[in-house]
Amino acid sequence: MHKGIFITIEGLDGSGKSTQIPRIKSFLEEKGYEVLLTREPGGTIIGEKIRQILLDKNHKELSAITEALLYAASRAQHVEQVIIPALKEGKAVLSDRFVDSSIAYQGKGRGLGFKAIVDINEFAVCGLKPDITILLDIDPEVGLNRVKAVKGADRLEQEKLDFHRRVYEGYKDLADMYSDRIKVIDANKTIEEISRQIKDKLNNIVRKG
Ligand code: TYD
Repeated sequence: MHKGIFITIEGLDGSGKSTQIPRIKSFLEEKGYEVLLTREPGGTIIGEKIRQILLDKNHKELSAITEALLYAASRAQHVEQVIIPALKEGKAVLSDRFVDSSIAYQGKGRGLGFKAIVDINEFAVCGLKPDITILLDIDPEVGLNRVKAVKGADRLEQEKLDFHRRVYEGYKDLADMYSDRIKVIDANKTIEEISRQIKDKLNNIVRKG
């Protein structure tokens, strides 16, 4: 088995992941880890190309199943090329999204169902699981409005609010099912407060710095 730690961060668009990621990275470095930051969809040259297909606003005809398989394909490359080698070197790998995103967005949001998404992803990642997952819990309406205010919406972000509500329910289901692994953080709090709560959770899993 690997010696590093594998941390994923999850949440709706606009939940504040990108604000917290650099803070988590600094925290892990203080604890003595070499940190690898990565993201999905993407994280590799091949994965970034798949990401372009997925997020292209012109691809209105992209089917839900194709979408789910492309996310899984991007993830397979990511795991083999980036995540596993870094874990073997003892690094802390911090991934912006992982399998839980597919379960919430494709499984629940697109209605493909939990089981199909779990199955294709188990195959894609050869059973790799995060040691801990931080789920930033934001009201879907608040998240969507934040995203619209900051930048033009991409293909998925243009989806209606009820899509985001379903994704939100998907995350809630996941948090109930995997309550040991998934730590839910109230993302309506201040940046500092959210950061403090995340560090509290991570403290239980990191080695002493
Ligand atoms: P992300 O890169 O987090 O968005 P941004 O950097 O623009 O904030 O994710 C892009 C979109 O992809 C986001 O709407 C969630 C979606 N997504 C899925 O639907 N399924 C997945 O498996 C992943 C990883 C992301």
